[in-house]
Amino acid sequence: MKRREFLKKWMSSTLYAAGAAALAYPALSFMTFRRAKTREVVFGQNDQGADINHKEGVYLIGTGDKIRALSAKCTHLGCLVNYNPLTRRFECPCHGSVYDITGKKLKGPTTRGLDELPLTKNSDGSITVKVEI
Ligand code: FES
Repeated sequence: MKRREFLKKWMSSTLYAAGAAALAYPALSFMTFRRAKTREVVFGQNDQGADINHKEGVYLIGTGDKIRALSAKCTHLGCLVNYNPLTRRFECPCHGSVYDITGKKLKGPTTRGLDELPLTKNSDGSITVKVEI
């Protein structure tokens, strides 16, 4: 094989390999397993003064031993729900879904209640809630 032929074959095979990699990358990256990302919302002792506390898209409900964390994200299409202290309900401003204080669906287009989030009570009295993003 002459030098010129070798270089032509080497160039064309390199271009084919680069093209195949460019085509395969999106498909392979789509098929790979992706880990869910989480973030932590920490309620310090000063953030736990009321029965209903809100911080960064999380409602912390209750005091003492009975504490639950609910996501403020509406399970219909993801708007943030507001707590209405007069009715003691969570109300979505987007399409009108309503949830009771435990997060159970009362009415609206949503099909289920608010998501309960795992929480950890820390030794310093703060509470850490994990939120999937
Ligand atoms: S997003 Fe809340 S009711 Fe539609």
